[in-house]
Amino acid sequence: MPLAIEMKKITKKFPGVMANDKVNFNVEKGEIHSLLGENGAGKTTLMNVLFGLYKPEDGEIFLEGEKVNIKSPKQALEKGLGMVHQHFMLVNRMTVLENIILGMSNELALNKKEHKRSINELAEKYDFAINIDEKIENLSVGMKQRVEILKTLYRGAEIIIFDEPTAVLTPGEVEELYNILNMLREQGKTVIFITHKLNETMEIADRITVLRNGKKVSTEKKENTNTNKLAQLMVGREVDFEVDIKEKDPGNEILKIKNLELLSDRSETIDLSVHQGEIVGVAGVEGNGQLELEEMIMGLKKVETGHISLSNKEITNTSTKERKKMRIAYIPSDRHNRAVFKNFTIKENILLGYHYKSPFCKNHIIQEEKLREHSEKIISDYNVKTPNSGQLLKNLSGGNQQKVVLGREVSQKPEFVLAAQPTRGLDIGAIEYIHNLLLDLREDNKGILLISADLNEVIKLSDRIAVLYEGKIMAFKDKKNFTRNEIGMLMAGEMVENEV
Ligand SMILES: Nc1ncnc2c1ncn2[C@@H]1O[C@H](COP(=O)(O)OP(=O)(O)OP(=O)(O)O)[C@@H](O)[C@H]1O
Ligand SMILES: [Mg+2]
Repeated sequence: MPLAIEMKKITKKFPGVMANDKVNFNVEKGEIHSLLGENGAGKTTLMNVLFGLYKPEDGEIFLEGEKVNIKSPKQALEKGLGMVHQHFMLVNRMTVLENIILGMSNELALNKKEHKRSINELAEKYDFAINIDEKIENLSVGMKQRVEILKTLYRGAEIIIFDEPTAVLTPGEVEELYNILNMLREQGKTVIFITHKLNETMEIADRITVLRNGKKVSTEKKENTNTNKLAQLMVGREVDFEVDIKEKDPGNEILKIKNLELLSDRSETIDLSVHQGEIVGVAGVEGNGQLELEEMIMGLKKVETGHISLSNKEITNTSTKERKKMRIAYIPSDRHNRAVFKNFTIKENILLGYHYKSPFCKNHIIQEEKLREHSEKIISDYNVKTPNSGQLLKNLSGGNQQKVVLGREVSQKPEFVLAAQPTRGLDIGAIEYIHNLLLDLREDNKGILLISADLNEVIKLSDRIAVLYEGKIMAFKDKKNFTRNEIGMLMAGEMVENEV
């Protein structure tokens, strides 16, 4: 049987970067193939080449044994390729049905009723349990993803590429996605699945290809590998999944939150505190007040009810700049809109928010050489994959962009660190790095508030844990007094009767 996809010696260069270096990649018909690799390894580039978004300098592509020359996503679709992007491309105001048929111009002859019938049939076949007359804006993230999948299937996709599909899902939604992927396989579809989570790969994939530095390192059958081996292939060294957290007595209270109302329609308030030398983790499914908490601490959202103090000084109504001067390092959850300018260089991004400070600024003049030195040091300390600090930020992979933000914030020697979803979308090496960095800051007696939808991360790093649900803290106590199960239940809004 011919291979569903065969990519031969694909080479794709960007200025100063060999994104794909003679990559051979093949996918069998009807398998779930996981594509792994560190941030910047070349995964998205390879898929964009396949999808006709990038033209490779060299190499050949065969679909079911036939050589193809795909020049655009439209042609890719015609050849049976579909892609579910991480950021959904749906129109919120329109219904599921309207979104699915949107742009299918040559199908105008078909009426809406007929489309509706066949889309419903398709949804039923895959057990999607979706109301196609519902507006997109009323759907959960998991449901929106189903719409994207349905859209590719309705356009006749035989091969579906998922670029980090689980990063935005709750644990329950991840399980449901697995069911869908298995169903797709049963129906003879071929799936390519990009992820950073090795346990996901081991759960769902039939075969796994690992890229490193633009080169293919290996393709493995799931039966012949395990998470440790995969980590080693990805990073080129052993990765320590366990962290060693030293017992430590916390110091003075650094952040204090009193009667703060996060969600205005709930009339619930929260109390929260962080001491020096401690990591306080806020667990919970995103959308339960996390963003409001983050923005209120930074002065980006007005506080209607309640008080926030930093080092015994009330900051409830001070400006963001004022707060940053009090040595808050801020790692925002929305790094694209809050942390960086993608069209600026790395250097310029490192200057952001600190342009008035020495040594970058002297007599109102930016000290170029100092900035360059500092930026190059961050690049080397944080292992940012880039030729130099003059590169545009948008040309870095997601993980490397995040390292630039961390480097900028932490190199300013903060007293308090607000880290919101700091490792989302990052590879295991970068996560290990950031976790160690947060632990070093704790060791160094800084106070850290970690807001994360990744329960494993919260449990691993925190001294104390608060569980946030619908704007309310369900429980806030020492990690050792929580069970994992209890946190999970609280995250879903269930009160736990017999607390341990
Ligand atoms: N349009 C572009 N211009 C310049 N360089 C680029 C461009 N797109 C990607 N690169 C570079 O190519 C390399 C591979 O990037 P790619 O986005 O394929 O990585 P990735 O494996 O998908 O990483 P991540 O896991 O972070 O998404 C990176 O070094 C990146 O900086
Ligand atoms: Mg990518």
